[in-house]
Amino acid sequence: MDIPNAAQAVLSRLPKGVARRLEVVLDKLPIVGDMVRAEKKKLAESMRESVRKHRPTELKFDALPREGLSQELILETLRTFSTRESPMWREGRVSGGVYHGDEQHLRFLNEVYALYSQANPLHADVWPSVARFEADLVAFTAKLMGGDAHLDDDEQVVCGTLSSGGTESIMLAMKAYRDHAQATRGIKHGNIVAPVSAHPAFDKAAHTMGVEMRRVPVDGDGRANVAAMKAAVDGSTLVMVGSAVSFPHGVIDPIEELSAFARSKGIGFHTDACLGGFILAFAAEAGFPVPKFDFSLPGVTSMSNDTHKFGYAAKGSSVVLYRGRALRRSQYFTTPEWTGGLYVTPGFAGSRPGALIASAWAAMVSLGHDGYVKHTRAVLETAREIRKAIEAIPQLRIIGDPLWVIAFQSDVVDVYRVLDEMAKRGWSLNGLQHPSAVHLCVTLRHTQPGVAQQFAADLRAAVEAVRDTPPAKDGMAPVYGLASSLPFKGMVSDMLCSYVDALYDA
Ligand SMILES: Cc1ncc(COP(=O)(O)O)c(C=O)c1O
Repeated sequence: MDIPNAAQAVLSRLPKGVARRLEVVLDKLPIVGDMVRAEKKKLAESMRESVRKHRPTELKFDALPREGLSQELILETLRTFSTRESPMWREGRVSGGVYHGDEQHLRFLNEVYALYSQANPLHADVWPSVARFEADLVAFTAKLMGGDAHLDDDEQVVCGTLSSGGTESIMLAMKAYRDHAQATRGIKHGNIVAPVSAHPAFDKAAHTMGVEMRRVPVDGDGRANVAAMKAAVDGSTLVMVGSAVSFPHGVIDPIEELSAFARSKGIGFHTDACLGGFILAFAAEAGFPVPKFDFSLPGVTSMSNDTHKFGYAAKGSSVVLYRGRALRRSQYFTTPEWTGGLYVTPGFAGSRPGALIASAWAAMVSLGHDGYVKHTRAVLETAREIRKAIEAIPQLRIIGDPLWVIAFQSDVVDVYRVLDEMAKRGWSLNGLQHPSAVHLCVTLRHTQPGVAQQFAADLRAAVEAVRDTPPAKDGMAPVYGLASSLPFKGMVSDMLCSYVDALYDA
């Protein structure tokens, strides 16, 4: 789509609603609309092709095979897939993704999973042990996050539930705030005030709950701007949000000031510690003091903490916590009149995987407090070494003052081309935008001998390669280039949807 730069600049400054209406109108114009549709089709086809290229072809059927396959053949094929796909994460070349990954730890979690593969906490009478594991996980996490789950005070007790992951924990908390504010403050159309760096799960929550999302710009160091956050709050604000740490730049928002302000206004404050909670809780003991971010601050009223990240559990579990029982009650859903019987669930899901709860519990109690401190020290020391190596590359600049999620940008090279060069060298890093940057989230996988040194050597080589060669046509650089050149956000969304279509249709 060849839209002159000046026109783009004008169009991208239009208010959102106007731009969207203009987009719809343009789409209907005979020539422009045809051009746009042709480009979209080309893009969708190229996405399908790139997905297809990476798909395994063994045991591929157009429909369910009439006769079942032998279990031996299935297992043998899955072992082939798994063996083919595992070196990248096992050898520590992925940003985030797999947080523990040690062979013995995984074998243990798998054994626990096998014992509980049929368990469902919806039937607490059939699997009372799962219900206890869930309560234990909430209590352990509450304690680590500066709260007390055993407090005999309904307003100050820190309580919560399990969920399937960070996104669900955040959505549940936002639902709780919406319903609680409706009941206690009579607010029908509330808003959430969050820095632009907060996870998209907050947008998803706002969209789903019919709540307004107010995104506030951050400072140059990636942290929330306190004055701007305060200015965005009004009489309909349900909750303010801060991250500890933020996904893009791995920095801790000024939670102490923000939560004190929220408290003074009588509104909620949610600390999103999905990525950071299980590192920050142990950081001081590991020799890396951090500012307060949790329930030790009186204004913090809820938190999200992912056991399936640095809690080192299997994928599919997270803990959402509240200060006070009333907020947690607002998360529940009851249907007292259903012909299927009296029905209540703590969260969005009905049936839930008891095996994941059991394995999260087993992960936590097998590591113990000391195990977490040891792993936190390993992650933070490795990250410090990697950060130093990045700082030594004159073309790159680190954003903010991160601990283990390290984002870098550049004024002299195209950082997305560096991302692509790193991909050629076997690394899967994350591309960021506004500003253009790349990050590595250090996990235990990167603490293996030689990984940090290899990362540094490859990054130096990638920066050199970008200086010496012309831009390529494939990779992420052209995708981010296209995304930033598209004048309407609707077009970018369309491109993202085409990618998901391709995953299902390829
Ligand atoms: C800060 C933060 N919050 C929330 C999430 C969402 O977690 P999930 O992908 O488990 O839904 C993430 C994921 O990386 C995150 O980094």
